[in-house]
Amino acid sequence: MIENRFARRAAALSPNFPASHFPGELDEGVIPFDSGFAAPQLLPDLTGFADDALTTWREETLQYSPPQGQPELRGWLAGMMNADGCALSAENILIVNGAKHGLELVCRLLIDEGDAVVVTAPTYFTAIPIFRSFGVEFVEIGQDADGLLVDDLERALAERRAEGKPAPKLIYNVADFHNPSGATMPEDRRRKLLEIAVREGIPVVEDTPYRRVRFEGDHVPSLKALDTTGIVFHLGTFSKLVAPGLRIGWVAAEAPLIARLIQLKSDGGSSPLVQRIIYEFARSGAFPAHVERVRALYRERRDAMVAAVRRELPGATLHVPEGGYYVWVTLPSHVDGDGFAARAAAAGVNIIAGSKFFATPGREWPANMSSPRNHVRLSYSYATVAQIEEGVKRLAAVYAPVEA
Ligand SMILES: Cc1ncc(COP(=O)(O)O)c(C=O)c1O
Repeated sequence: MIENRFARRAAALSPNFPASHFPGELDEGVIPFDSGFAAPQLLPDLTGFADDALTTWREETLQYSPPQGQPELRGWLAGMMNADGCALSAENILIVNGAKHGLELVCRLLIDEGDAVVVTAPTYFTAIPIFRSFGVEFVEIGQDADGLLVDDLERALAERRAEGKPAPKLIYNVADFHNPSGATMPEDRRRKLLEIAVREGIPVVEDTPYRRVRFEGDHVPSLKALDTTGIVFHLGTFSKLVAPGLRIGWVAAEAPLIARLIQLKSDGGSSPLVQRIIYEFARSGAFPAHVERVRALYRERRDAMVAAVRRELPGATLHVPEGGYYVWVTLPSHVDGDGFAARAAAAGVNIIAGSKFFATPGREWPANMSSPRNHVRLSYSYATVAQIEEGVKRLAAVYAPVEA
């Protein structure tokens, strides 16, 4: 048996990969509020671009390609980010296989076993095992409706210093339509976060999958756009705006950092075929129209979800997200999120308990921090409006714990 040969990072892994709920695997009638899948009707028709990529561009798309990614796509991405306030060129962009891959590469660049990383509480749950596989210590900082509490971050860093502990190696944050909290950081708080990061010399990893899925509200500059010192690694992806199955994202950072990340990217380069398809789609007239459709449909579903929760779940509270895919619901104190999620599953609605979004859910939580217990995340990206109405009704029926 090879179990005793595992690397330390693998020792705690379960021999069973948890069952997940991919669309094709859902039982008949089950309503999926648990996933960040794209609405099927928003998956664009890319056949023309794919055909072109395989004929006109065959020698490029079926050949090994530059490990940094196709120059034209990198240039297009730099242009898109510059239109959003950045000052980048193709040299600042590395194409990766989705934002999660970008996060893993940044960890490979910055993290040694035992290093600390700052995450929000709650945070994006897939980031947790990525960090954990690097053997990190988590420093969890609470959030309010405006995102990461920068004063708490400052205090936590000062406390670590006073205790003689080294500064964290990075601060991971989703500043736009946070997953799961839905919060968007206002500009002044972003500036404060960067001020702290620069003063303490801690790189910021800005994960932006939902940035362009804004329904309303004022534009807020990205952390990268406010970054004057090169301390921000910006993670982008086509998953939430175009199609998650394409598996293409990007890292934007200072050119010498990108050069090092390329050396850590051992996959032989992200698929040149998919990059060409995306590039041709992105620069076509179909792209802006697609983005508008994405915003309109998810906005309609967000509205339906918010209205249904307010109508059907008395005592539950939420901040209406101005974009993104999720509503973070705070439950009354007598409703435990884990129990509620289990009852919901039995009633044919998949939801995710809040505790799944905390790096260390079992610990004592300070009174000023949102506790893992009384929350659930409801995703409105994949379910139709009719499913949202029906699903929240089913949730209402199992909302309160059953009396023993
Ligand atoms: C915060 C966050 N980062 C990254 C991703 C996924 O990105 P990708 O599909 O590009 O790996 C998601 C998707 O749910 C997300 O919510």
